Parts: sequence; C-alpha cells; structure tokens
Amino acid sequence: MNAVTLPDGPSLPRFVQGTVGLAAPLWMMRKLHERYGSAFRINIPIFGEAVVISDPAEVKQLFMTSPEVADILDFNLGLVLGPHSFFAIRGDAHRKQRKLLTPPFHGRRLQAYEAIIEQEAVREMAAWPEGREFAALGPMMRITLNAILRAVFGADGAELAELRELLPRLVKLGSRLVALPIPRTDLGRWSPWGRAYAYRREYDAIIDRLIEAARQDPRLDERDDVLALMLQSRYDDGGSMSRDEISDQLLTLLSAGHETTATTLAWAVERLRRHPAVLRRLADEVDAGGSQLREATILEVQRVRPVIDATVREICAPGLRLGRWTLPEGQVVLVSIYLIHRDPALFPNPYRFDPDRFVGHRPDSYQWIPFGGGTRRCIGAAFAQMEMNVVLRTLLRDFTLVPTSDRGERWHSRGVAYCPAKGGRIVVHRRTAERQSSDHAARAGAAA
Ligand code: HEM
Repeated sequence: MNAVTLPDGPSLPRFVQGTVGLAAPLWMMRKLHERYGSAFRINIPIFGEAVVISDPAEVKQLFMTSPEVADILDFNLGLVLGPHSFFAIRGDAHRKQRKLLTPPFHGRRLQAYEAIIEQEAVREMAAWPEGREFAALGPMMRITLNAILRAVFGADGAELAELRELLPRLVKLGSRLVALPIPRTDLGRWSPWGRAYAYRREYDAIIDRLIEAARQDPRLDERDDVLALMLQSRYDDGGSMSRDEISDQLLTLLSAGHETTATTLAWAVERLRRHPAVLRRLADEVDAGGSQLREATILEVQRVRPVIDATVREICAPGLRLGRWTLPEGQVVLVSIYLIHRDPALFPNPYRFDPDRFVGHRPDSYQWIPFGGGTRRCIGAAFAQMEMNVVLRTLLRDFTLVPTSDRGERWHSRGVAYCPAKGGRIVVHRRTAERQSSDHAARAGAAA
C-alpha cells in the first residue's frame, strides 16, 4: 500500500482553527492559500483533519473518482432530511435515485416550469415599492420557495399554504442541527431536535395528503410536477418509489434548491447595481428578446459569488493517489469552490465582474464549479439556471434597476449559503410600456 502523503497546514489546535474558521471562513481560506498554495490541511470541528484542494487537475481527478472510492460525507443530514435523502444515500441506492430523478430536471421538462416561475416572479414583484431601497433576498426567497412548491411538490390550495408556512421553519432549524451533536437522550418536544421531529411529522402529514390527492387524480399522467413524475416512475426492476423515499427526496430538493437559488439572485442584484454598463446592455437585450448576455451574467455571478464555498468528499478506500498526495481511507477532502473560482490562471483578472468572459463560451465543468461535480453534481443545476434566467428576465423587463456607487456588500454566511450581508439592497422603478420604449430610444440615441 502507498505511504500516506498529505499537504502541509497550520499546527494550531482544532479549537483555534475552528474559531477562526467560524469567525472568518473565507479570510482563513485566502490566508492558507497564500501561505501553503493550492492544497493544505486544516483541523476544524465537524470535518476534523481535512485536506483542502483547489488545483484544477486534482479537483478534476477527485470529481472523476468512482463513488466507491470517494463519496459525500455523511453528516446528520439523514436525521434531518430522512434516510432516503440524496445527502444520506451512497452507492447503488444513490445511483438508482439519480437515474430516476434526473429526467424531471432536464430538457423539455424544464420548459414546463418556466411559466410557473414567471407567474411567481410577477406576483412577488407586484408589491415592490418604487424608488425606495429594500433587501432583494426576502422576495427572492419567496419566489424560489413558491416555485419549488408548485413545480416540484405540485402543491396547490391548502397544502401550498401550509407548506409555505412550515417549510422555511423546518429547513432553518434543520440546517442548524446538522452542525450539532445528536443528543443521546430524548430532551423533549421543546428541545431543538424535539421541535425538528414535530415539524417533520407535520410535513409528512401534508405530503401524505398530496400523494393521496395525486393518486386519485385521473389526469396524473398529464401533470408535469416532480411529485407526479415520482409517482409514475419505475426503477429498472419495475419497483416504484416508496412513500418515505418520495417524502425525503421532496424535502431534500426543497432544502437544496430554494435558498441557494434565492441567494444567487440576491447577489445578481448586488453585482449588477455596481456595474451599470452591464445593466444597460442587459436591459437592451431583454427588450430585443435576447438572452445570451443574461445567461453569461448568471454564470459570472456564480463564479464571483458562489453561494456554496466548498463541496466535501470522504475517501472510502485505502490509499487514493490524488495528484501530489496519497490520501488514507476516511480522509475528508474539501474542494474549495471559492479558491478555484479566483485562480488567475483559469479566469484572467479573477476579481473583475465580467460577464463577457462567458459570452459564446461555456465554462469548463471542472473549473467553474458552483454546482460541485462528478456523480454528486447538483441535480437541480439546470433547473436553477433556468429559474434565475426567468426571474432576472422578468425583473429587467418590468423594472429599471437603479445603479449605486455604494461599496459591494460583504459575504455573510447563513449556515447553508453565503448571501450579500445586507440582503442585496435594491431600488427599482416600474417600467410602463411608454417608459420601455423611451428607455430604449434613449439608449439607442446614446449608442449612436
Ligand atoms: C444556484 C442554485 C444552486 C446551487 C449553487 C447549488 C449547489 C449545489 C452543490 C454545490 C451541491 C453539491 C455537489 C457536490 O457535492 O459535488 C448540490 C447538490 C444538490 N443539489 Fe443543488 N444547488 C442549487 C440549486 C438546486 C436546485 C434548484 C435543486 C433542486 C430543485 C438542487 C438539488 C440538489 C440536490 C438534490 C443535490 C444532491 C445531489 C446528489 O447528492 O446526488 N440544487 N447543489
């Protein structure tokens, strides 16, 4: 067996590294990168002794390694989201679920969700005040929550209202519990775990009603929501998804998809207000019915402000040779999305917000990695990109986004995702039909 070789790292005790990592995680990553280069070792709570990598060749190799050798790390997620959640299953069970649940998030299926997302965006934006600053994050969270509840859960009426009220509480509490030790004794219904289990029971009761209603629906085969597709889909052996699998996976899709998409949209607002030239071109493009620059802008927002800063793998076989290193079984590896996106060898002028770098040029899927990579790459990536595109298109079509010379907002960790510290402050004016054509004429005149 190959001798273990690990990169260097600070020798400070776990408590000290953990405290710095909690107070200033991205600063710590930058400093360690400056000191040790593209791979280093850290020792922090939750992950223990972990290796952080950001060298593109090593990242690519890890993402391409078979899941039998390197797979996700199991936190308490199975307890929070359920044992059938993507975040709790490995090996064959994971492969089977990916095969079944990938089609609803791709190709033609996605088009069916566009109308729902636009309706939700228009509905939410109808209440936006004109000329008064507010945080974009709250409205974006409501749009993405409603979009998932309708497109994925197929929820409507009473169930939609109940889930809309319950799920943010369940997800918020769940994301805190993931980092906490599991109590050995039952601390009662008022303890955080007790409350999480009570929310979960409430959630399961609503899902049972949704499943029952879908089973009774004579037009189930005409429905496009993911729940309807789950109920009709079959594994290779002819078996269908169990009620518990459906319930856990719906909750997983919502937990993974709602806040990540909303925080990226809040960053898009934050970046665009500070780049008026891009903003003007985007407004022109939307009036002309185009989308190329908008799609490139979303890619660039995700590069400069990846809301998830790292993905995690655990080595599950002895002695994996990964680039310069030989990693022992059980080794935790963090792929730093944050660091690789700032690599000047991959993205010239990496700190500059420049959507043009992606116009007519798709990014390399092992270097531009806001959705992670390999067999665990985000299953909702195409859904999220379509959703962000539709929300941004609606915003630019119906409003003028007012630029600002304020300093950029700092990164703030919400536990799961990094958001702009002030929630992405936004100021808008509604564009009437006359205003749309006069804006267009003014821009055309300025360009002439
Ligand atoms: C901008 C929005 C989003 C971002 C930045 C994001 C990011 C990520 C990342 C970094 C991972 C881990 C990948 C890895 O370990 O290599 C992941 C996994 C996952 N995401 Fe997303 N995500 C987003 C939206 C969504 C949406 C909309 C959904 C579903 C509707 C979703 C569902 C999932 C699921 C189920 C997984 C686990 C996949 C597996 O383990 O096989 N995500 N996402």
